[in-house]
This record gives sequence, C-alpha cells and structure tokens, in this order.
Amino acid sequence: MAKTKSVFVCQNCGADSPKWVGKCNACGQWNTLVEEFVVKSNAKSSAVQSFFETTSSKPEYIKNVPASDVPRINTSNVELDRVLGGGMVPGSIILVGGEPGIGKSTLVLQMALRIGSKKVLYVSGEESPQQIKLRADRIHQGNDNCLVVSETSLEKILGHVKNVEPDLLVIDSIQTLSSENIESVPGSISQIRECAGAILRVAKEKNLPVVLIGHINKEGNLAGPKVLEHMVDVVLQFEGDRNHMYRILRSIKNRFGSTAEIGIFEMLGDGLREVSNPSELLLSHHHENLSGVAISAAIEGMRPFLIETQALVSTAAYGTPQRSATGFDLRRLNMLLAVLEKRAGFKLAVKDVFLNIAGGIKVNDPSIDLAVVSAILSSNIDIPISQKICMAGEVGLSGEIRPVTRIAQRIGEASKLGFEQIIIPKFTKGLDLAKFDVQVIQVSKLEEAFKLLFA
Ligand code: TYD
Ligand code: MG
Repeated sequence: MAKTKSVFVCQNCGADSPKWVGKCNACGQWNTLVEEFVVKSNAKSSAVQSFFETTSSKPEYIKNVPASDVPRINTSNVELDRVLGGGMVPGSIILVGGEPGIGKSTLVLQMALRIGSKKVLYVSGEESPQQIKLRADRIHQGNDNCLVVSETSLEKILGHVKNVEPDLLVIDSIQTLSSENIESVPGSISQIRECAGAILRVAKEKNLPVVLIGHINKEGNLAGPKVLEHMVDVVLQFEGDRNHMYRILRSIKNRFGSTAEIGIFEMLGDGLREVSNPSELLLSHHHENLSGVAISAAIEGMRPFLIETQALVSTAAYGTPQRSATGFDLRRLNMLLAVLEKRAGFKLAVKDVFLNIAGGIKVNDPSIDLAVVSAILSSNIDIPISQKICMAGEVGLSGEIRPVTRIAQRIGEASKLGFEQIIIPKFTKGLDLAKFDVQVIQVSKLEEAFKLLFA
C-alpha cells in the first residue's frame, strides 16, 4: 500500500523540511517553502526500477576503465557543436534554458531534424505534434528518423524510450513533466527532481544523449531548483533581446568542454541561422560622420569580434537625468560616467545618457569600456569618431586604461576587417607590433585616448 508523505520544499534551493518555516534553513530565503506530497511506495516498484530490472552495475578498477575516446555526436550545427565543446557526448544530459519565446524549441527542433541518420524522439509537453510539424515546415528541414510525441507523464515517456530506442531524446520542457510517484503539480521542485533524476539514470544506463529544455524564472535563473543544474552535464543558456534577431548560446556549465565558448545565431523567418562571422553583421551599418558611435574589439567566448557602441547624450528635460543601457550593465555605465565626470572633467550630471550595443547583444567583456566612454564623449561634444579606428581597453576608477586579455586576437580581427588604427592599453606585454597591418596605438589614460580621437 502506498503511503503519502507531505514535505515542505524550498522553491528556491530545493531543500526540504518536515514542517513549514518562514525562512529556508538552507538558503535563507523567506517564504519559499511549499507543501508537496510524495507517495512512498513500499513495494519499491516505480517505473524506473522496472526499467532497470535486468541491468546491474559493477565496480571496476580505474586503470581498467577504457579511456573515453568515444566519438562525439556531430549535431550538424557549427555554433552548437562549438558551445558543446565539439559535439554531443553520448549519455550526456544537456539542459537548454532561456526566456519564453527566445527560440529554444526552434533551436532544438532544428538540431533534431538536421542530425542526420540518427533516430530522434522529440517529446513535447507544450505543443501538439501538429504544431511541431508546422514549425518543422517553417524551418524547411526534414529528418525521416525524427519521431514526435506530445506527452507529460514521465512513466509513459520512459515507456516510449524503451519502445522507440532513440539515439537522441529531446524533452520540451522539463517543467511540464510529472511522475505518478509525486503528488505535486508539474514544475514543482519535487517533480523536476524526480523526473530529471529518472531521465538521468536512463541516459547513463543506455548511453543515450538527452536534451532538456528548461524555463527561466523572472530573476533570469533556470526555473526550478539549482539541483537541476547540478544533475545535468551541460547547461546552456539561450539569450538575446527578443526584439532583435541575434541570439547568443552561452555555456554555463560543461563537464566535457570549456564554458568560455559562445554560439551566435540569427533568428530569421525560416529558423535560426548560424553566424560564423559576427563582426561583419555587427558592423554592417556605416554611420560615417555621426557622433556617438565607437567601435570596440571585443571577445566573447573564444572569438574576437568588432561591435558598435552607440551613445546619445542630451540635456535632461526633467529633474533627474535618465541613464539607460541596452546590452551593457547599467551600474557599470554609471561608474564610467562618474569616472568621466571626476577624472576627465566632463559635466554629465545634468545630461540624459542612453547607451546601445549593436544588435541587442549583451557583451560581458570589460574591454568595451573604452568604446563606451568614447561614444558618450563623442555624442556629448558632437564630434564623430573616425570609422577607421577601433579600440579595446578596460577603464579603471582613476581613469586609467587597463590591459585586457588576448589582445593579439583583437588586433588581428581589426586588421582583418580593414581598420587603420586600434587603440589598446599601454601595459600590454609580449606583443610584436610589427606583424600587424593595422597601426597599434597604446594609451595609459583616458585623456590620451580622447586626445587621439578628438584632436
Ligand atoms: P520558440 O522556439 O517557440 O521559443 P521558446 O521555445 O524559447 O519559447 O520560438 C519563439 C519565436 O521565434 C516566435 O516568436 C517565433 C520566432 N520564430 C521565427 O522568427 N522564425 C522561425 O523560423 C521560427 C520557427 C520561430
Ligand atoms: Mg518552446
């Protein structure tokens, strides 16, 4: 006879407590405990257990474990492969997170349809097979070996996996699944933990790669518990500004590769296009003789690219000046404005400042600081910056230009795109300036850079 047990589970960290408390003892968050019911079956015969009845594990000496030279599964998507670290590892679980409408389902379906002769089982808890078919028609891709099913019951999905024996399992999304063993609603911590745990065991046992799609909550974290991120092998985040067409796929965790890589995509009417040369896209518009535009040689992931920063400075119409930034951290913008005010003597306190990074791409690289302050100043004094100059440098609190990483790669990219000059920090070691076509100018202070740009 199955017993129902009630526990209070923190919706933030997943810790449970037998009694309700106002503040979670594990993570310290207030009011996050929610009562959930767990059915404990005495006979220990869950669907997962029966799935494994015939298999058993055996400890092995580590020296006898064969070295993993398992070929990675090529996803036929250069950007995705890059972020995964060279393809999918058999038996790995990949979690793809992102805001609603950003294109997670499109990305994963496109991969499922392009993966070649692999048999894919695409389980959707959100869309009907007809809706998936509509999307597949839209992206003009076909894979004769792709099966779709609309299902939310964990036990039934595992049944389908057993029958179909796919080479790749896709679950869209983990928050819609529910197991009979848990009495809470789909998307609750206990459900996510149970379902992800069961899928994980199946994946490892059958050496089946799994792609899980996950929702993101309003704070921007993968909705549900951190436990989900701990369980899976790879966590990818799909981000971008929904009003722009560029999307970035970032790796937050990767047990089989670097987390420094990013993939860049463009959302078109017929699916996502891989962007292999980001600079050309981000620099496509030439605003010759327009003030407030500066070009930065940034690096995201392992790839350098040149990106346009645009600023607009105008006299504040109302009491409190406005500061707004798209694709750039607002606090960092405020800090840079304070540096400009204090160290370079520009009166920006009564001005509205708007900042925009081209394409709606969010850049985390601090080396775009120099371009940001230059664009602001250019707009403030209404003098355009030459379109033949680009720059890279972090701005410190005392107005100094600090060294940035991988400067040679940045200079290389600038020279490839035909720039004539690049402004970089002075104290950059081990650089052979002779080998670049572009003129490299080294500066140590903001004033020096401004003198060069606006003299
Ligand atoms: P979707 O993959 O459904 O997002 P998610 O699964 O992350 O919620 O895609 C959402 C948006 O992408 C939708 O607003 C329509 C748009 N889209 C295109 O612009 N082109 C396309 O080819 C497809 C399939 C979708
Ligand atoms: Mg979706």
